[in-house]
Amino acid sequence: SALSAVGEVEDAAPAPDLRLVAPAKVNLFLRVVGKRPDGFHELASLFQTVSLFDDLDFWTSPREEGAPLASLEVTPDSLGAELIPTDESNLVVRALSLYAERVPSSPAIHCRLHKRIPAQGGLGGGSSDAATALHAANRLAGLPVSQETLIEWAGELGSDCGFFLSAGTAYCTGRGELVDPRRPLPPTACYLIKPAAGLSTPSVFKALGLEPGEAGPAGADPADLLSRFEGGDVYNPDLYVNDREPPAFELMPELRQMCDDLRKFGFQAVMMSGSGTTCFAIGMPLEEVQETWVDELQAKYDVEVFEEMFCRRIADEPSLWYTE
Ligand code: C5P
Repeated sequence: SALSAVGEVEDAAPAPDLRLVAPAKVNLFLRVVGKRPDGFHELASLFQTVSLFDDLDFWTSPREEGAPLASLEVTPDSLGAELIPTDESNLVVRALSLYAERVPSSPAIHCRLHKRIPAQGGLGGGSSDAATALHAANRLAGLPVSQETLIEWAGELGSDCGFFLSAGTAYCTGRGELVDPRRPLPPTACYLIKPAAGLSTPSVFKALGLEPGEAGPAGADPADLLSRFEGGDVYNPDLYVNDREPPAFELMPELRQMCDDLRKFGFQAVMMSGSGTTCFAIGMPLEEVQETWVDELQAKYDVEVFEEMFCRRIADEPSLWYTE
């Protein structure tokens, strides 16, 4: 590749066979129903995709003795590029390998990943990339595997991976892998606030302190929360419940402070997503939110702010997502 006068890199690689985007998610509510004997937590959560996307390009080639069936490169200007593995510890490679093993007629696939979704932030970026890779592999093989089976395979890769094969709004139960697609919510503006410091998912679950077989904290009925969201009540702060907030706030008290500050700026609903540390703020009409909130927040906390919308997959064009 050569650098042109305007600084654009001329791409020597042939055009990809498939180009997809993988969205981030937030959990609009997340109830922990209990801890199971197998150590996983039983969840009931409304997942929603948002308009922050990773880009994935895929190239196929015939299977060749001694050549890998799945390979990955990460663009150098990806968010956090130096920390993203390109071996089997990356869920994209695991997804492509799993597909190649189970569908012997499928081609070898190389993926180039451009990351914009912060890693380990409770936004599901890695799971979304992996689900998108499964979807890509299936399309590039001529769709031999049903959507239901693909969602099952996704569940083997990670608890929230299957959700990303839905159209963008789903009620997820079990470990998170049982995906009940719901109709789209109204297009809604949301801000993602990602602190530089992270928390690991297992450490947040552990801090809940539940014993195997023990029920989770008492609280709102998830079926009731779901029906109220579906009634269009997306600005009602009472519906935004995340049972992982108390343990996460205990591990990182600054997070609670930050959420309180966001409410003071005028946002109606403020909540941590998943196991954090990303928090999101819903605030319409935007006029009610103090104009200088980003500067004020960043003066106090080391955070990155993303301005996004709820988004959904276009049914007849599965590679496209839209926000209206
Ligand atoms: O399934 P996934 O690999 O995303 O889970 C990561 C970790 O989070 C698990 O090993 C487990 O410690 C915890 N977890 C859990 N209950 C869930 C999902 C994840 O305890 N429903």
